[in-house]
Amino acid sequence: MLAARDIHRHFEGMHAVDGVSIEVMPERITGLIGPNGAGKSTLLAVLAGTLPASSGTIVFQGEDITRLPAYQRARRGLVRTFQLPSEFAQLTVLENLMVAAPDNRGESLLGALLGKRYWMPDETRLVAQARGLLKRFGMNAKESDYAGTLSGGQKRLVEIMRALMLRPKLLLLDEPMSGVHPSIVDEIAGYLETLRDEGLTILMVEHELHMVDRLCDPVVVMAQGKVIGQGGMAALRKQPEIVEAYLVG
Ligand SMILES: Nc1ncnc2c1ncn2[C@@H]1O[C@H](COP(=O)(O)OP(=O)(O)OP(=O)(O)O)[C@@H](O)[C@H]1O
Ligand SMILES: [Mg+2]
Repeated sequence: MLAARDIHRHFEGMHAVDGVSIEVMPERITGLIGPNGAGKSTLLAVLAGTLPASSGTIVFQGEDITRLPAYQRARRGLVRTFQLPSEFAQLTVLENLMVAAPDNRGESLLGALLGKRYWMPDETRLVAQARGLLKRFGMNAKESDYAGTLSGGQKRLVEIMRALMLRPKLLLLDEPMSGVHPSIVDEIAGYLETLRDEGLTILMVEHELHMVDRLCDPVVVMAQGKVIGQGGMAALRKQPEIVEAYLVG
């Protein structure tokens, strides 16, 4: 589905991503793990196009997308979320989903800021799509709440729903469980499993290894900008150099 070849990304001599090649297989949740500073978020940003690669090539669904800006990758179905929630605190939950929708910029953003009464009729389709997601993620009662008032877990769900508004084929998630109360972690994991079972492909950075065990197969391990191993989690746990790099890292 996605193949990245020999990706490099430097920051003034600092090799954040240092020659990474990975392949993402369709309809699976691929895990991306590694110690702090391994380059996981940088790799995700390069794949999504929010950060240009210093070198390397990225092929998505048979097309070389290396030079495409993020919004054109998103149009093709490659969408990311951020490690820190990026919701608009002063907009309602529904508005947050609306402004994430494709071709929903400019006047529509103004519309969202003015409130739902002013949305154009052709946006009712997007409202329906947003409400469908809210229902599905158990957030319909929060539709009119300001996103800034939500719990950590609810903000994560908004982040995921915002990405889903773009109807991705491959969703890149950066620590979707971080800052989430343990009671909601299971709920989010369940949603991700359902999305996968429906055919969505996911590449996910995650620190919680029991979640990686549950959700991710295969798993790619990064340390110091390089891939140091990949495969099933059970097999990776048997490789001392990986355990060491990850736990000591
Ligand atoms: N914009 C930037 N400018 C300079 N250095 C950066 C920038 N972004 C990341 N880095 C550096 O690149 C390295 C990799 O960072 P990155 O955020 O990709 O790691 P990570 O694996 O996501 O870590 P974490 O688990 O802490 O989120 C780090 O040393 C980081 O300080
Ligand atoms: Mg990170």
